[in-house]
Amino acid sequence: MNRRQQEQTIVSLIRSLGTSLKNRGLYPPAHPLVRTPVKKCCSEILLFFADRQELALAISDETLVFEGVPIFNLTSSLELFMARLAAIGIPAIVFEKGLVQADIEHFIRFLHETKEEGLSPSDIQERIEEMGVTHIRVKPPSEDEEDDFSLAREIYGNAIDAVASVMQEIRKGRIPSGAESDRVVRDISGMLQRNRDAILALTLIRNFDEYTYNHSVNVAVISLAIAEALSLDSQEKTEIGVAGLLHDVGKTQVALDLIRKPGNLSIQEFEEIKKHPEEGFVLLGKMSHIRPASAYMVREHHLRYDRKGYPELGTDYAVNPRSQIIAVADCYDAITTMRAYQMAKPPLEALELMGKIAGKSIDPDILSVFKNVMGGYPIGTMVRLSTMEVGVVIGVGPEGRGPIRVSVLVDRQGTPLPRPEEVEIAGLDAVAATVSPGRSILGTVNPLLYPDAQKGVSPPAPPS
Ligand SMILES: [Fe+2]
Repeated sequence: MNRRQQEQTIVSLIRSLGTSLKNRGLYPPAHPLVRTPVKKCCSEILLFFADRQELALAISDETLVFEGVPIFNLTSSLELFMARLAAIGIPAIVFEKGLVQADIEHFIRFLHETKEEGLSPSDIQERIEEMGVTHIRVKPPSEDEEDDFSLAREIYGNAIDAVASVMQEIRKGRIPSGAESDRVVRDISGMLQRNRDAILALTLIRNFDEYTYNHSVNVAVISLAIAEALSLDSQEKTEIGVAGLLHDVGKTQVALDLIRKPGNLSIQEFEEIKKHPEEGFVLLGKMSHIRPASAYMVREHHLRYDRKGYPELGTDYAVNPRSQIIAVADCYDAITTMRAYQMAKPPLEALELMGKIAGKSIDPDILSVFKNVMGGYPIGTMVRLSTMEVGVVIGVGPEGRGPIRVSVLVDRQGTPLPRPEEVEIAGLDAVAATVSPGRSILGTVNPLLYPDAQKGVSPPAPPS
């Protein structure tokens, strides 16, 4: 099952639990309206045991969280059920391999009979065991059991699929739904909260064939990281992320040859390209599940901080202040990406270049927030270590403060390693609990000096 199918199955099994619990109040325990949903729930849980020992569902702020990422597409009746679990004091439900239908029936009985609220997890555990539950725990899952990088990869892949599908639908002349874009943006946002570096590191992976899709997802991820640093509320974060993901959908209305054309454009060609923000605005306006703020940000993503740029919207037009978040993310990802007509710039150089256009093209305040997000050695920076090894920064910790994680690609003799070695180095203003002895960062390295090493730039692969 992919993440999408897993989420659908979880929603379905929670629905069955809710139905059984509701009917338990109306019918005897053996009644089919109580038993059948339990049977369905049990068979759905068993699907997860094909490749795992347990299914852990955490409950945080009355929201269901699976593998660190909230599931938002619950209906209001399911949310009521979740609120009930949260009120009793259940922090997580962990279904263990070996689970049988009777476990769920006893658990439903516990939910039905328990009227108290705010019980401790150990109290709840004791009571459900007394009722005969053997393969359900109510303790939250251990954090390090899960692999953040594979989860981040899956979420990133879903986002690529979402934007690709939107653009393909539009090219066929159809207006797609924005529901999937909304969902993947919430997933990215959840992942940024869980392990920011894991998802930010994925913006380094360059797939030249799918530049537009990669760029769209990168802009969504970077915009959301800035929104997160600004402590915006979740609705605003979603609006910004969706705008980042779909900022260039208007390019579907421009001839592909023109979009891919390397080198300089003629005045007429540039006039064509300049239509894409307005085209995007119109398209987003027609899509379901898209909030108007996202459409306005798409319209304004090439509008400069000094009100130059395009489209021309008149001096009394009120610009959404969040549009500059998309502009900053768009600019950073474009500068750090190698394209047919442009060499990629290293992250620090990109930030320096952006500093020169701050106050003119881009908002200096948003740029400074972004610099804080990226830290002194942004993810993707190639560095030389005190051991003379060369590596790439793949993690900088929250708010850009260390410890810094470096994937070492080249040994002290200058020979590329067969497999990158990950090391942790104390940050500039923080002391790491576990740091690599004897290693510190001497400075940045021009990645062009190590073109072969650069190919290895990617987050560590999950253990096989
Ligand atoms: Fe654009």
